[in-house]
Amino acid sequence: DLGHYRHYMQKEIFEQPTAIANTLQRVVELGCQSALFGPEADALFAAAPAVRIVACGSSYHAGLVARYWIEEWTGLPVSVDIASEYRYRKGREQDGTLIIAISQSGETADLLAAMRSARERGDVKVLAICNVPHSTLTRESDLLFLTQAGLEIGVASTKAFTTQLVALYVFAAALARSRKTLEAAQLTEITDALHRLPVLVEEVLAMDSKLEAWAQELAHYHNALFLGRHTLFPIALEGALKLKEIAYIHAEGYAAGELKHGPLALVDEDMPVIACAVNDELLEKVVSNLREVQARSGKVFLLAEPGCESAHEGSHRVLTLPAAAGPLAPVVLTLPLQMLSYHTACRKGTDVDKPRNLAKSVTVE
Ligand code: M6R
Repeated sequence: DLGHYRHYMQKEIFEQPTAIANTLQRVVELGCQSALFGPEADALFAAAPAVRIVACGSSYHAGLVARYWIEEWTGLPVSVDIASEYRYRKGREQDGTLIIAISQSGETADLLAAMRSARERGDVKVLAICNVPHSTLTRESDLLFLTQAGLEIGVASTKAFTTQLVALYVFAAALARSRKTLEAAQLTEITDALHRLPVLVEEVLAMDSKLEAWAQELAHYHNALFLGRHTLFPIALEGALKLKEIAYIHAEGYAAGELKHGPLALVDEDMPVIACAVNDELLEKVVSNLREVQARSGKVFLLAEPGCESAHEGSHRVLTLPAAAGPLAPVVLTLPLQMLSYHTACRKGTDVDKPRNLAKSVTVE
């Protein structure tokens, strides 16, 4: 039932505060701990020599974000692979490696093949992050965390993606706890940040009309670049994927530091650049990347947390988010990108919930 929404995608975007709160329900009771992943998890987490993440599409982008959290909080080596590439590579896995298989549906053919292939490469354990309780993935995994996004009908992943991010954040913190790589105070801070998330997400959703206004402009372009650094680099990839998928606008996501290594050649007045910024130690690097864009007449649409005023000057449009989200910034900054693509697609009159050529679940190779 669509209620007052025009599309399932729109409804699912607005369900995110609830989807996130539901996903966090047991975390609120227990904290970020291994028991959330299964009774065996603590011993496996403590002993793992490495983490390998496999997934496709948006789920792969969630994995790319998770790498930053896991590396920073545990010091473990983390690799993130596109499932359809991993399954045809020949490498071995160290015994005890944690394979994190991320999938909304739990039925993506390449993902299942990658998981099975990982088991042949070493004595590994598979942790599934999945939204469908009785799926092939959940049946075949050793450890499980179910996201509680509820049924997602729109082909574009929205609430499934942000709840995957939340699950991965909890995993990274639980892994750090089992391995004793963080101080108790740091763990408390990481966990407490989660409690504020549903409200913050709600506040960002209230900015919908501003993104709708941006979309009126964006709909006129044939290309777009999305830029971010650190955990916001995968969010730039995700923003570009959403725009391609539902608005049929060619878009590329880039790590902002890569601009000068090629894509800057594309920038002119016809290349809008959607940039994400937070007030961290990389802010000034992002600012200088944006200056490069502006010097070539590129129009910058800036999504920024408070404290990024140095990035405002020269930007074509600026949207300041209500509050800083610390390590959860990639979750919060995903929402405006979803809304931007959604409204751009509506403006272009595409079939938002069922974009051409795509299926919700890719069960064939
Ligand atoms: O069900 P899965 O999470 O395994 O699906 C993976 C991708 O097919 C999926 O995320 C796809 O990229 C979305 N349509 C993107 O919005």
